[in-house]
Amino acid sequence: MNKLFDSTDKIRKRIPNKRYFHLIIGNFYYKTENGFFRLLNNLFSQKKFKFRYPIMANIDKEQHWEKIYETKNFTEVGWYQKTPTVSLSFIEESKIPKTAKILDVGGGDSYLVDHLLDLGFVHIHVLDLSRKAIGKAKNRLGENATKVTWINSDILMFEPKEKFDVWHDRAAFHFLLDPKETQKYVRIANESISEDGLMLIGTFSGQGPTHCSGLPVRQYSIDKLTEVFSPYFQKTKCFQTDHITPGGARQHYTFCGFKKIGK
Ligand SMILES: C[S@@+](CC[C@H](N)C(=O)[O-])C[C@H]1O[C@@H](n2cnc3c(N)ncnc32)[C@H](O)[C@@H]1O
Repeated sequence: MNKLFDSTDKIRKRIPNKRYFHLIIGNFYYKTENGFFRLLNNLFSQKKFKFRYPIMANIDKEQHWEKIYETKNFTEVGWYQKTPTVSLSFIEESKIPKTAKILDVGGGDSYLVDHLLDLGFVHIHVLDLSRKAIGKAKNRLGENATKVTWINSDILMFEPKEKFDVWHDRAAFHFLLDPKETQKYVRIANESISEDGLMLIGTFSGQGPTHCSGLPVRQYSIDKLTEVFSPYFQKTKCFQTDHITPGGARQHYTFCGFKKIGK
């Protein structure tokens, strides 16, 4: 019990009957053999465990996001924006053809898809962990929802059947805390993006919030974001900007555009 753990895998080996960790109101629990939940944080606070990265099993991630989308209206969440200006400028400046295959990773019920449809893009894909988020976006779009391919998946489990010309991710990548997960994301992006494909990643910056929707995030400077994607991607343009939440708070973001290197 005094061992130093630094990854989910190692923790799974040590704790009996620990298939899932449950995140309930900000605390971690695990299920014991007789079906009760035991608070894992107690063990943390007793310093019996030392975790380098907060752990979140898939089931908890999914439950967390389902709850968010069940209980909050779009305009109540910090990341809401009626017109995603940064993303749309990137698409416009990159002169992306209307036939390009675009994937919005962790798109949630964002309005990006509405704007892309209005602009005449015909191969739009929205991927999200939350079924509820996808349902909300579909309801909003009505008939137009049939023009979009909806993918309900954790991006880390995503096995694309086709290549995408544009990969867009605003405020989803930054939830990956463990470097193994970020590296996996970068590998999946590389495998999913066509030769010369483009990518836009937006995360909280070092001056931005440390949490988003109650979950810890990894903040990125321009250099850090460039470095993480450098094995397969070359940056085209990076910058930092404030996003103003519906409640009036200022959130500082790092955005980087990338081009696939073609390895
Ligand atoms: C902060 S919201 C941003 C939503 C949207 N990109 C926007 O800018 O409005 C994060 C979204 O990422 C999704 N998400 C979080 N982790 C994910 C993962 N591992 N795979 C797929 N989607 C994920 C959540 O369900 C949520 O919809």
